[in-house]
Amino acid sequence: MINNKKLPIFRVAVLFFSMSILSSCNTKVKEEENKGLCNYYVDYFPIGVSVSGRALIPPFDTFITKEYNSLTPENEMKMGPVHPEENRFNWKPADEIVDFAVKNGMKVRGHALVWHEQAPKWIFIDNGDTVKKDVLLNRMKNHIDSIMTRYKGKIYCYDVVNEAVADDSTMIFRESNWFNICGEDFIEQAFVYAHQADPGAKLFYNDYNLNRPEKMERTYRMLKKMVEKGIPIDGVGMQGHWSIFEPSEQDLREAIKKFASLGLSIQVTELDVSVYNWEKNRRAKNPDENDEFTESLEQKQADQYKMIFKVFREYKDNITGVTFWGISDRTSWLNHYPVEGRKNYPLLFDSELNPKKVYKEVVNF
Ligand code: G3I
Repeated sequence: MINNKKLPIFRVAVLFFSMSILSSCNTKVKEEENKGLCNYYVDYFPIGVSVSGRALIPPFDTFITKEYNSLTPENEMKMGPVHPEENRFNWKPADEIVDFAVKNGMKVRGHALVWHEQAPKWIFIDNGDTVKKDVLLNRMKNHIDSIMTRYKGKIYCYDVVNEAVADDSTMIFRESNWFNICGEDFIEQAFVYAHQADPGAKLFYNDYNLNRPEKMERTYRMLKKMVEKGIPIDGVGMQGHWSIFEPSEQDLREAIKKFASLGLSIQVTELDVSVYNWEKNRRAKNPDENDEFTESLEQKQADQYKMIFKVFREYKDNITGVTFWGISDRTSWLNHYPVEGRKNYPLLFDSELNPKKVYKEVVNF
């Protein structure tokens, strides 16, 4: 029998226990209805999601803490949004995400310290002219120092350089402002500065289409050179903006094995599986373009996700994180890109946050 005097303590203990089941992804949860994606994968790798501050209020907040144990700010920590003027940082949106993660015992991936998109205009201009290399590298160092010092101990890994490899297969490096002003040095220096700023953080190079053998080879060559020179890089982020048409199982395996052979860990940093072919350039929606999620597309997507996660689980010793790019089909960036207003269905949850058919394929193994 329970002693009445001990009842409050007993109640608190029960409450505490049930809260930890509902909100913590870091434990094994037996009850199916309380399980989130991250519980199914607790013996494999963290399961993350990209968010904006708008996603951290009801009903999304409890949904997020149930399904995921890692967060990536989708835009808030990119150089333009967080560092709009040389002497001004806009910390609030990024802080909100990091604070939410810390409060809920979640990991945070920092995204992205150096990228050619969403870079602020001031960074490449000095007294009205194109900035000189030494000044630009110094600005980059200050930016990296400021972010990594602020979030030391709260952000465990960073996409240090994002998308520096060219789409053009005849070149290695993308002809961005960073590359045109600094040459390839900007990549190595970014990693050196990041390691100096927070030696405990894991440092990643992040890019898309790394499943495609041709781009994978060029990226591999760049990373191999960095590893051989002793540049402090820990891993490669395969973004994972895939589709029902790619990657093939063989290409996915080959890419993982090849990057792992450099001693790098691998994270899938921006996973979504589009139901359309990959297109780089923006275009208008064709009048006769059908964007219905047919049963056939749903089945193809389920098969593709099933294969992808089977391979991820096989390489769990090399893969240290898998992050989805967006929480549901309602807010995915793919509803705006490459075709504004064409509905896409790339994630595991539909527009009402209900798990889609594909969810089962990911968690039943
Ligand atoms: O913040 C402004 C807002 O003030 C304005 O009213 C609104 C009107 O268009 O735009 C808002 O900015 C948008 C921003 O997302 C935040 O919503 C930008 O226009 C829009 O271009 C931007 O898109 C982001 C894109 O990166 C930028 O290139 C996507 O949300 C984001 O999902 C996407 O993420 C990238 C990764 O960082 C790197 N890998 C590829 C991936 C997809 O492009």
